Amino acid sequence: MKHKMIRQMYRDDVPDILAIEQEVYPDPWQQDMFHQEIDHNSAFVLLTSTSEIVGYICVIHAVDEIMISNIAIKRKYQNRGFGGLLLDFIIDLYKERGFEKCFLEVRKSNFRAISLYQKKGFTNIGLRKGYYTTPPEDALVMVLDLKDNQVKFI
Ligand SMILES: CC(C)(COP(=O)(O)OP(=O)(O)OC[C@H]1O[C@@H](n2cnc3c(N)ncnc32)[C@H](O)[C@@H]1OP(=O)(O)O)[C@@H](O)C(=O)NCCC(=O)NCCS
Repeated sequence: MKHKMIRQMYRDDVPDILAIEQEVYPDPWQQDMFHQEIDHNSAFVLLTSTSEIVGYICVIHAVDEIMISNIAIKRKYQNRGFGGLLLDFIIDLYKERGFEKCFLEVRKSNFRAISLYQKKGFTNIGLRKGYYTTPPEDALVMVLDLKDNQVKFI
């Protein structure tokens, strides 16, 4: 893939995004959840040069903290650095906007995601017992200090 672009998510993107959700999650988000994120201007998509959606990231902000509420890459594009690209984009954007901390929750068994987050500097700060229901699983809570973090673009 030669060129990539990250832009805000639009309602027209949602049908393609729901297909990716169903492909990658056992408990996919429904349309309304994406519409809410779009209305808050806190959802972004990564596209190929031919406007195919590679993946997306959604963020919730509160005062000086953000939480990554969703990040996913279409299965055929996984393991090629695109999840890292979306994370770097968000970290840099909210760092520039003066936010101080970035939180996320991740299934305890999602080793690939956890290792990516650790590589980006996130550390474990706790466990939410039984946070996920389909299937039941604990969530690992992770945090990144946006004031100390030096982001490198790849
Ligand atoms: C988790 C997820 C978003 C990660 O996205 P991704 O694009 O696959 O991740 P990346 O490619 O950036 O990084 C993952 C691995 O690929 C490796 N990688 C990074 N750049 C690479 C490149 N250019 N070529 C090959 N591998 C690369 C990374 O080193 C990393 O491996 P690691 O296990 O050694 O850390 C994606 O796998 C996904 O959508 N999973 C399903 C949904 C999900 O679990 N979301 C997270 C919920 S909390």
